[in-house]
Amino acid sequence: MRRYTPPPVPGSEITPESAYLRRRDLMRLAAAGGLAMATPSAFAATPDLAALEAEPGGYDPGEDLTSEEAVTSYNNFYEFGTEKGDPAARSGDFNPRPWSVMIDGLVRKPGEIGLEEMLAFDLEERIYRMRCVEAWSMVIPWIGFPLSALLAKAEPLGSAKYVAFETIVRAEEMPGQRGAFQPLPWPYVEGLRLDEAMHPLTIMSVGLYGKVLPNQNGAPVRLVVPWKYGFKGIKSIVKITLTEEEPPTTWNRLAPNEYGFYANVNPEVDHPRWSQAQENRIGGGGFFGSNERPTLMFNGYGDEVAGLYKDMDLKANF
Ligand code: MTE
Repeated sequence: MRRYTPPPVPGSEITPESAYLRRRDLMRLAAAGGLAMATPSAFAATPDLAALEAEPGGYDPGEDLTSEEAVTSYNNFYEFGTEKGDPAARSGDFNPRPWSVMIDGLVRKPGEIGLEEMLAFDLEERIYRMRCVEAWSMVIPWIGFPLSALLAKAEPLGSAKYVAFETIVRAEEMPGQRGAFQPLPWPYVEGLRLDEAMHPLTIMSVGLYGKVLPNQNGAPVRLVVPWKYGFKGIKSIVKITLTEEEPPTTWNRLAPNEYGFYANVNPEVDHPRWSQAQENRIGGGGFFGSNERPTLMFNGYGDEVAGLYKDMDLKANF
């Protein structure tokens, strides 16, 4: 793996002609210059990437999409504040370009992989049902690549059993990391068992709604694990470490009786303070209109993932 050095991109390349480029070229272009962030109007002028070249990943649940407005304005990203509107309102100073992710630990080839290299993986659009532990849910058209493709580059050793993830710490650009009140210990950390990480449903997302991932959703690269509660979807990842032991996770460390390591969506295991049997689909019937529906085991992905847990007590391993 080589170190990422941002290639120079002449401003003239960021023109409406990009409309004719393939989706992946567009993503690379945006990544290379940081121009999508610096000049949103130039990027906004490009058409919807999904419409340009839809390569559906085959996981579309066939439900109405949550509006882009809701997906990008109702967020959890405590590095920017604890209110749902904070990430959209307070992440404008965050600059996710250039970017690289360090992969180390129990791998044959540790090293840094640049964003550009990640954007060169085969990007697919996957429409996933997402479910937050607070009982709201969304259906989001993600753009990303399987985490397994990234891990394969580093060549995990036979002794690796878990994958630990870490978010960037950058107080200058992340207002939630400054000041007297620190809602969480930084960095935000998460983890998966290696077989969960290698599962084809597990992706690293670099975009949504056909666009480069907005800061509030975890730019430039974040984890998406659709059968788990939303807090497993760690954002703005800078480090991935393969380990033999189960790694610590932010919410489990903070409140182990409320948030387990596995965090599989499970309507039969209530959060100690509320039921997990129902969820409110955001954006259906008005932004906060009640759109209650029963929560599905493994968020509806049981056919694909139940086998990962066949000999486990899911009430003990919540
Ligand atoms: N990642 C970091 N670094 N910091 C966070 O506060 N919040 C998590 C997760 N990833 C969080 C994070 C929680 S609680 C949820 S529900 C999802 O991000 C929300 O993702 P979204 O805003 O893209 O819907």
